[in-house]
Amino acid sequence: MTDNFDDKYPADSSRRRFVRGVVGSAALAGVGTASATIIDTATTPPGFGGGPTTYRGAEQVGGPAPRGLPQIPIEVDDDGYVIGIWPELREVEVDGRTVVVAEMDLAGETYESLWFQYCGIQSAPGIVPDADHDNFLHYTRSSNYDWQTEEKEGGERLHISDFDDYRDHAEPIGTPGLGKAAQARWRSEGEAPRDVIPVQVIRSHLVEEAAENDEWLSVSTDQGFIAFLNQCTHFCCVPGWKTYRDAPQFNAEDKIYCQCHQSVFDPFSIVTETFFSLPRPGDR
Ligand code: FES
Repeated sequence: MTDNFDDKYPADSSRRRFVRGVVGSAALAGVGTASATIIDTATTPPGFGGGPTTYRGAEQVGGPAPRGLPQIPIEVDDDGYVIGIWPELREVEVDGRTVVVAEMDLAGETYESLWFQYCGIQSAPGIVPDADHDNFLHYTRSSNYDWQTEEKEGGERLHISDFDDYRDHAEPIGTPGLGKAAQARWRSEGEAPRDVIPVQVIRSHLVEEAAENDEWLSVSTDQGFIAFLNQCTHFCCVPGWKTYRDAPQFNAEDKIYCQCHQSVFDPFSIVTETFFSLPRPGDR
């Protein structure tokens, strides 16, 4: 486990908040029963929901990034679509008023929306606990993966059948047969590019096998799918798994590699990390 509270993030842009109504299909992960909890906000910065946060993520194994990439728990629905599990909603009392938070127990871990509140993601409309967004993963409109560019126009939902060849798939970089990946967006449909929540998705037999003997992976991955918030914890660039040609120079040909300053993350080594999540601007 790594503790680090020294992340250097850009200041929030105080940009326009766009908050839609109460949850629609975002309830795929289930909506929890409201329960009253008192939160001490005496030392909380302006906004809502930040603070010391423990999460599970891809281990940082090289470069200057202070910590790993937070994992987005995944499930595949009965129709074969890939969903990023959003924590359950519940109401808490803060300074005499009731607010909604996204937080749930998942295999003994506290999974909460705070995992993703850094690098400006804390300002994304989709990060608001009860934002009216679905939880399906949607293909990005451009991608570093040739197969995705050739077969998907962007905006479509990821379907398990798109990854049927995951055991044989090869990218120009790294070891063939480790898995098949895509670049996706989550809780972001209809939003401006600056408000997109970027996701790195991988389907790998390594994940499938590891989940057989790991309680956390058994609930946070599904049929070999694993996903991460694709925002580097160093200076917020967008890294990629087998997407950058110089990755082998940094022993990152089979890892998630950030080209900005050569940080490396291992998607097949999930660790517990702690950081200071940033509050969401506004009052939600
Ligand atoms: S290594 Fe610096 S932003 Fe990723």
